[in-house]
Amino acid sequence: THLDEPRDRAPDSTLMLVNDGYRFFLNRLNHHHQDVFETRLFGERAICMHGPEAARVFYDPERFGRSHAVPSRVQKTLQGQGGVQGLDGDAHRHRKAAFMRLMTEDRVADLVDLFERGWRDVLPRWELSDRVVLFEEAQELLCRAACTWAGIPLHDDEVPHRAQDMAAMVDAFGAVGPRHWRGRLARLRSETWMKRIVAAARSGHVETFEPSALHTFAYHRDLDGELLDTRVAAVEVLNVLRPIVAISWYVAFIAVALRDHPEWRDRIRSDAGGHESELFVQEVRRVYPLTPFVGARVRRSFEWHGHRFDEGTLVLLDVYGAHRDGRVWERPGEFDPERFRGWSSDGFDLIPQGGGDHYRDHRCAGEWITIALMKSAARLLCTTIKYQVPKQDLHIDLRRMPTAPRSGVVIDRVERVA
Ligand code: HEM
Repeated sequence: THLDEPRDRAPDSTLMLVNDGYRFFLNRLNHHHQDVFETRLFGERAICMHGPEAARVFYDPERFGRSHAVPSRVQKTLQGQGGVQGLDGDAHRHRKAAFMRLMTEDRVADLVDLFERGWRDVLPRWELSDRVVLFEEAQELLCRAACTWAGIPLHDDEVPHRAQDMAAMVDAFGAVGPRHWRGRLARLRSETWMKRIVAAARSGHVETFEPSALHTFAYHRDLDGELLDTRVAAVEVLNVLRPIVAISWYVAFIAVALRDHPEWRDRIRSDAGGHESELFVQEVRRVYPLTPFVGARVRRSFEWHGHRFDEGTLVLLDVYGAHRDGRVWERPGEFDPERFRGWSSDGFDLIPQGGGDHYRDHRCAGEWITIALMKSAARLLCTTIKYQVPKQDLHIDLRRMPTAPRSGVVIDRVERVA
């Protein structure tokens, strides 16, 4: 069976991945007419999987593990080393539980509240500005809210460059050259900063409160009963701060979607219960590209649909393409939030933040935060201000990972609505 597995003809597709970006899987699937194909990536043999059935298999912890699944260039930028993403089994579940304890309804509401207060505070400045670049503004607003929420002391004048570093770590994913190096520097700086804060928390020089991310990871004990290494604790606190800042990518997409579908602006404005904004942001998460794929390694060899998965093989699951699959979504190419009315997930259909279970699997710990902050951003854009979207380059380049509207979404003539 090994032999008739469709193979990519390119000797190593790393460069193709960089060139094709989000469409890497879809472009090859059309070519191979199958949900699985083999290729070489990052100098090794890799299997690429697509489709709802593949997603279920990919999240089977008996078959797949995460240790050594992420290339070191991604660890040195986006993720850091020693964090929850690379753990398996009981060690993973124990560390993950610490993240999930931060995600109670009350705590999520606190974060939304901080974000909304910050938003209202900047409106006078926006009103006086010739132009407001939403993507950048959202990064600072989210960074400030995230740090307060996580118990991280942060001076006002520190906000811009901390926010830039968080964004640079995210932006380095899928980059070669200067953008990669910017991400590495941002990670070095951020970890140094956060190690110092964790140490200060442990020595009582920075006060912590429960349940904050700082408190949680400064005092977290792994299954062996030991405190986390200061660097690992720093990586885990950054695993909360950085992705909250990454929600700025979605804020930019929300603004574009509102511009392109102004009828939703009225619906969100007149909706008190938050149901309409929920439909809207789910469709934004389905349609707009952020996570291209997720990766794991085969834990124990198995066969699936006639394909051999040898122990240790790198396997990538297509995320971008999952949301364009006609077997799962009707008219996948259409932006239609209505598809989410009365919708319930099977855990493997809408997977911009991974699939499976939040506690058991590697599914994103911050998915509820993301949805809550996206709803908040959509509501704030519709209810607190009037603004224009001047002519600009809003193109979303699918060859760049991660991608965003090129102009960063400029708005002008901002007026507060009483
Ligand atoms: C994991 C996406 C926001 C914390 C993940 C994964 C993806 C993802 C694709 C990996 C899933 C997998 O490997 O199966 C996103 C996107 C976000 C976002 C697109 C929105 C911009 C957040 C937020 C937080 C967060 C707000 C925390 C406050 C984490 C953590 C993990 C994770 C800790 C590792 C989970 C584990 O390994 O068990 N995220 N995320 N993310 N995310 Fe997010």
